[in-house]
Amino acid sequence: MQREHWGSRVGFILAAAGSAVGLGNIWKFPYLVGAEGGGVFLVVYVAFLIAIGFCVMIAEIALGRHAQANPFGAFKRVGGKRWSIFGLLAVLTAFTILSFYSIVGGWTIAYVVKTITGGFSGFSGAEFEGRFGELVTSPIEPIVYHAVFMAIGVLIVINGITSGIERAAKIMMPLLFILLALLVVRSLTLDGAMAGVRYFLVPDWSHLDADMVAAALGQAFFSLSLGMGALITYGSYLDEKESIPNAAGWVVSLDLLVAILAGFLILPAVFAFNMDPAAGPGLTFITLPAIFAELPFGIVVQLCFFLLLFVAAITSAISLLQVVVSFVGEEFNVCRQWTTVWVGIAIFLFGVPSSLALGVWGDVTFFDMNIFDLLGYISDTFFLPIGAIATCLVAGWVSYDQFVAEVTNEGERPFAYLTAWKWMCRVIAPLAILWVMYDAVFGA
Ligand code: PFF
Repeated sequence: MQREHWGSRVGFILAAAGSAVGLGNIWKFPYLVGAEGGGVFLVVYVAFLIAIGFCVMIAEIALGRHAQANPFGAFKRVGGKRWSIFGLLAVLTAFTILSFYSIVGGWTIAYVVKTITGGFSGFSGAEFEGRFGELVTSPIEPIVYHAVFMAIGVLIVINGITSGIERAAKIMMPLLFILLALLVVRSLTLDGAMAGVRYFLVPDWSHLDADMVAAALGQAFFSLSLGMGALITYGSYLDEKESIPNAAGWVVSLDLLVAILAGFLILPAVFAFNMDPAAGPGLTFITLPAIFAELPFGIVVQLCFFLLLFVAAITSAISLLQVVVSFVGEEFNVCRQWTTVWVGIAIFLFGVPSSLALGVWGDVTFFDMNIFDLLGYISDTFFLPIGAIATCLVAGWVSYDQFVAEVTNEGERPFAYLTAWKWMCRVIAPLAILWVMYDAVFGA
């Protein structure tokens, strides 16, 4: 059967940018900037995104397009049986990450629903904290929203690449940019917003340390959806005439743009209201609603914001779902529709303990972590970096010539930074990633 392809280059770029732009940009990036010392984190992050993230992204897309297969099939085809284990790992990583990503995705739906139904009106800051706690620790409510989130993902992916994922991205990504632009304007026009802008943009080098640098590289990988097969999978549907470095450049730029805009949205608001920028994960779900509540028409601002988060989350989630669906569909030769439904159900069920871990199963810990944190730790610290290193080594050493042919479209589109890319894949990126793993395990 002919493999499905993206309908257009823009379709691919929007879908891949949809995968990259997610909770990582809007929820995690601003709180990392807040917690890791502001502008200096931004500088290091941008450097990694461009120097390392861009190169690994090219390698992932090239791997998928060359092999015309899901991550497992791609590693097998390009590197032989020995390397296929890394493809399997990528699929496992996508499965694991989606299981808890979808729980946070469910929270965004819960907030949209509660905002619309007036569930938050008249709340003060402390009440938001209480309400967030109630939501995430409840044994039923977040699981229902997790199910709704997965069901929406399944409904998109079940329609295939062009009529499902590409169409969703073409509608949702412009919406995401409109919502973001409106919110940034609102935030920057608050009294006292400039203190937040300064904190975000002016680096204070005294915050530079190994842990911060490691966090910046980890975030760059997560944010670009690298290391878990999403871009291998999306790349496998890319037309052979398209330039991979050009498409990757677009995706990296859009991802960075959204992270920066999210910084301009969140930090000025936090400073204008004298809140703590280092509040951590609760910044988005507790601090911001409390700020919105103070604004005229705050309910509209709040609705836009949580809609934005939902859109960002779902366009990322579908790329993870597609990784698993394409693997099962291709390797076991089963029909896409049923595969999508069953994979969706399996991921939903696997995610349930993670949600319970924030409430009734909070006492169940492994290595001092509840299941939610443990799965995040294992995937961020081991699965994802190992997947990224494997892609770099396959591209840089195992099948370098095939990769060059792919990246340059058989020499038709020379890539100006080919030598830099080669050494990045061969040596620099793998070493940098290994160091991040070392820091995550043995660092403070
Ligand atoms: N890049 C997404 C984010 O920043 O939220 C998360 C993600 C999606 C990671 C898809 C990995 C992936 F394959």
